[in-house]
Amino acid sequence: MSEILEIFPSERAKLYEKFVDKLQTASNLNRQLVSFQANKEEPVYRWFKYKEGFSSNLVTYFLTKYSKKPGKVLDPFAGIGTTLFAGQALGWETHGIELLPVGVFVMKTRQALRRIDLNDLQASVRILWSELEKVEDHINHFSHITITRDAFPDGTETALNRFLTYCNTIRNKDIRSVFRFAAFSILEEVSYTRKDGQYLRWDYRSKRELAGKPFNKGRIQTFERALKLKFSQLLADLSPQNDSLFNFGENAQHNQHPITIIQGSCLEELPKLRDASFDFIVTSPPYCNRYDYTRTYALELVYLGCDSEKVRNLRQELLSCTVENKEKINYLKQLYASIGRRAAFDLVLSTYSSSTAMKEVNSVLDELNRLDKLNNNNIPRMVRNYFLELCFTISEMARVIKGGGYCVMVNDNVRYGGEEIPVDLILSEFAEEFGFNVQKIFVLPKGKGNSSQQMGNYGRTEIRKCVYMWQKQ
Ligand SMILES: C[S@@+](CC[C@H](N)C(=O)[O-])C[C@H]1O[C@@H](n2cnc3c(N)ncnc32)[C@H](O)[C@@H]1O
Repeated sequence: MSEILEIFPSERAKLYEKFVDKLQTASNLNRQLVSFQANKEEPVYRWFKYKEGFSSNLVTYFLTKYSKKPGKVLDPFAGIGTTLFAGQALGWETHGIELLPVGVFVMKTRQALRRIDLNDLQASVRILWSELEKVEDHINHFSHITITRDAFPDGTETALNRFLTYCNTIRNKDIRSVFRFAAFSILEEVSYTRKDGQYLRWDYRSKRELAGKPFNKGRIQTFERALKLKFSQLLADLSPQNDSLFNFGENAQHNQHPITIIQGSCLEELPKLRDASFDFIVTSPPYCNRYDYTRTYALELVYLGCDSEKVRNLRQELLSCTVENKEKINYLKQLYASIGRRAAFDLVLSTYSSSTAMKEVNSVLDELNRLDKLNNNNIPRMVRNYFLELCFTISEMARVIKGGGYCVMVNDNVRYGGEEIPVDLILSEFAEEFGFNVQKIFVLPKGKGNSSQQMGNYGRTEIRKCVYMWQKQ
């Protein structure tokens, strides 16, 4: 490695020096405030666990502290809509872009819940079981993909199909959504799988031939019991007697703006938005950590009707954050040419190429790969494209935000082959090039180690988890 360091006298260290005054340990922004765990008191997050989300409190904190009055807020990686719903509650007009049908479905259900009459929902739940018995010819709703096949006990899959067939007969589309959502949020519970870091872990009782130490996930609920419990939870949380944070029915604020949800890739959708049309952006992109949303949420995707081809395409459209992601550059070139913005495309490429820290990271990773020091040889490609695609995203965010507007971004640094990649600094440098002032890079008080396989080799050292705050000039 010393050979490498001689060739590249740390550009990352220089970048650190450049931004060191902006780095600020933020004791008020602790991990609990930032992460999804702070949402536990909000019903939606209790009903369906989405660990990749940040907290509503974080959104509320920034929107109220850094803006005198509500305006228009955007989240280009909307997830299940934390920015959109927290912003809406404060009177903001909110817009979100989300690629995966999982997040879009949850957001749409959250909207449906706002419109629904609780008495109608209760009545529909009351008759559900007797109605289900009347369903004779149920349709098969699952086009399983390799990683979901045999995920459910046979009886459970039949019950799920029966239930979905019944849902199609429910005329009120909001009640239909809530019904489908209730079963959607118990899929893991009634399956042989458990979401476990990068992959689904399989219980020894499944029909699969499993290698390694048998895994017992404990009691696997029947569909009927799990769904009954889920409906009880939903109805109890939605009841007006429950003093929850959820603005439901009579508690809803009447002057809230509707939420705009765009389903698609932000790389494609951001260029369609008008210049200087937003006052604030609060967002968190996927981290550069190989985490594959399409694997973690495979059961949910299949439940929502995605087949193998659809899932494969979604995986490729994700911001490059897995070793499977291929380059999107030719596609982006065509896209920008087709909307007459070739100069914008060229500017992004030259901004990316002129980052010396980026160059250093790419070269060091290539060298580590050559020395066989990375545990997957597509890591350099993933990292290269992760930053390139975020460079496009940041250039677009700078274009759509008004002068003086803020962009708040939550992201983690990462480490591969022992080399720290200062995601916060590299992205902040891009942001500056596109006309943002880097106001602060808030560093969360407790960092985290890296994935377990790397900790084994390099010991646990802290890498920064940050909230960046950039202001458009
Ligand atoms: C860290 S999560 C954001 C969670 C969100 N802050 C919340 O609280 O729900 C990142 C999200 O970006 C989405 N995503 C990944 N690639 C995308 C793309 N190209 N366009 C739009 N969304 C994308 C993922 O599906 C995921 O939901």
